[in-house]
Amino acid sequence: MLLREFVDWFRAYTEQVFDTSIESLFKHMPVWVKELSVALPSFALDGSVYVVGGIVRDALLERKSRDVDLVVEGLPARELAEQLGPFLQKYFQSEATFEIPFEIPFEIPFEIHCHDEFGTCTVHIEDIAVDVAQARAETYPHPASLPLVTFSTLKNDLKRRDYTINALAVELYPNKGTFHDPFLGLADLETKTLRILHEESFKDDPTRIIRGARLAGRLDGQFEPKSKDLVATGLTDDVLEQISPARLRAELELCLQEAQVLPSIKQLCEVGALRSLFAVNESSFELIAALDEKRLLQLVDADSYLLALFLSLSDVDLKQLVERYDWSMHYLRLHALLSDIRQCNSLSDRFLKKVNDELYGLKNEAVSLLLEVMSPELKQQVQWLQDVELRPKLTGQDVLNLLALQGSSGESSQIGDVLLAVGKARAAGTLLSYEQEIDYATHYIKNKTK
Ligand code: CTP
Repeated sequence: MLLREFVDWFRAYTEQVFDTSIESLFKHMPVWVKELSVALPSFALDGSVYVVGGIVRDALLERKSRDVDLVVEGLPARELAEQLGPFLQKYFQSEATFEIPFEIPFEIPFEIHCHDEFGTCTVHIEDIAVDVAQARAETYPHPASLPLVTFSTLKNDLKRRDYTINALAVELYPNKGTFHDPFLGLADLETKTLRILHEESFKDDPTRIIRGARLAGRLDGQFEPKSKDLVATGLTDDVLEQISPARLRAELELCLQEAQVLPSIKQLCEVGALRSLFAVNESSFELIAALDEKRLLQLVDADSYLLALFLSLSDVDLKQLVERYDWSMHYLRLHALLSDIRQCNSLSDRFLKKVNDELYGLKNEAVSLLLEVMSPELKQQVQWLQDVELRPKLTGQDVLNLLALQGSSGESSQIGDVLLAVGKARAAGTLLSYEQEIDYATHYIKNKTK
């Protein structure tokens, strides 16, 4: 640890800026968690119950989070889950009755799914899923493999996780309100530091690299230097061969759903994972920054960000990437279209032809948004050209008729010339109706034949 880092960390550790009281934490958790802590003594459980992980981290940051992870120590997960189901049913039932002033004439259904061999259960009710897991230790027989699980203590359960800031727990029962921070995650949260819990962490699960970048970006923080050095251990061919591309892809897509995407992508780039996992480089950053600005004001779909990342790749590299991660092939077409248009000069013959050939593809929302951030001018011209589709526009037959009126036989090159001139004026936004197009073409032909 560098001296500077140690000083920051020590200050954070001793000053404790976060409010770890249960009253404060409950304020940022779903209300039923607080109610559960009141009901738990009546469950007569022979063990302990904790809220753990991301929800605790988020509550300290005063961020509301919906996903609740519970850990039980000293009893099977099923034992809590089977009482949690009816508890949540009663809770949601009374919530519903509170909202509508009569008793609802049916019982809100819930489902419990358990994997007893792994000590995990999930309770599904309404639109939530609550995970209950028996505290366990994990060992990975080889890198990126499925872990071997043995039931264990809360401390060991926290130790097997990804980062210290996620290795936090609040006890709900029996010592309600006790805050557990065995790996000093609070101090790391204060200094916005992503620190892994053991040296094998990235080898065990390389998706943690992407998760770390996402969290570092979200917190405006950074990887702790040693953890950063260890990223390379999760990016070796041996490790990556063992992991399903679908998991890496899903983690990248989560980054693209962050409120601001660029900070996470920059982190991913800084630790070398953007290039080694996705072959993408920094040349997309400007576009991503522009999309982030838009996202402050309007909905921007993750697809726009994905396409922006893809724009830093050649057709050939993108094809390989799309195949490896099983992304839809339609990205190849959209990528080709955007790369082409990006290289066109506004109002060039090539631009007009491209836009006319691809009017449908350009209606794709992600493409349209990217075009807007790439060049508002090009986007405006495309928009004018698209608007024309909704009204009658000058046709080759019209031009033929106009040429005949001027005494010309109407060779195809002449017709093409007039159509192109009208197309340019249209894209410049100067022709707003069919009549204006006829006038424009008439004058154009007259001038040409003078
Ligand atoms: N976890 C892990 N390794 C992973 C994924 C998750 O150790 N590859 C641990 C983390 O400690 C995390 C917990 O499992 O806190 C629950 O995972 P998940 O619900 O996916 O993440 P959260 O941290 O709860 O939420 P977020 O999506 O905001 O990160």
